[in-house]
Amino acid sequence: MDTKAEILKIIAIDGPAGVGKSTLALSLALNLNWICLDTGAIYRALALVILEKDLLKVTPLQAGQLAQNLDLEFRRVGQAIRLYLAGRDPGDALRTLPVSRLASQLSAWPEVRSALLPLQRSFGQKGELVTEGRDMGTVVFPTAGLKIFLTADLLVRAQRRLNQFLENGQPANLDEVREDLAARDHSDESRSLAPLRPSQDAFLLDVAQMTAAEVLDLCLKKAKAVFAL
Ligand code: DC
Repeated sequence: MDTKAEILKIIAIDGPAGVGKSTLALSLALNLNWICLDTGAIYRALALVILEKDLLKVTPLQAGQLAQNLDLEFRRVGQAIRLYLAGRDPGDALRTLPVSRLASQLSAWPEVRSALLPLQRSFGQKGELVTEGRDMGTVVFPTAGLKIFLTADLLVRAQRRLNQFLENGQPANLDEVREDLAARDHSDESRSLAPLRPSQDAFLLDVAQMTAAEVLDLCLKKAKAVFAL
């Protein structure tokens, strides 16, 4: 029997905030010419919709309904993938601290997670998908052919995230970014539903001392070996 034929052509990348999942997923997808899915952006899009509607006391039921009706699509723009919400690109509004905090809070609600599950899985129907988030390997794509779990020390992640904010012209300071990441790590790891943890069969990679190019090189080799590319 040719077991290679049965391997699901999905690369599931998980790990804490600021560890470099998006960078790795996008560069792997570009190299392999596969689709790229940033599932954190979906949770953020929902948070943005709720903030824009001024729903300060949104209930899990309301949030679940809004999640079911999210009007979003991913479009390839040059070498990037942009999320479009109701036909418009929200730009940096998706990456602010209030949106990050609300996205993390919403992601603990079963109503929200179950509403977003079919949407996320729909991207994997044809295979050839690189996806990243917190529960890609454990819940959304448990049969993915390659699962990668990235880790790095909190301070390293905070410094990298701070640099991203500053490069985008968004004011931020290290303490604030570090506290935000620590709070989100805690809530992502401790929630009862789909907590952030590596799948048993995941390839664990500590990237604290590695450049993005080194991480890509290693994971690309791994993918080529696993999928016989
Ligand atoms: O990866 P990110 O920082 O853009 O994700 C935003 C929030 O969404 C994060 O705090 C956790 C949540 N999330 C999740 O619970 N499950 C996913 N698959 C992706 C993100």
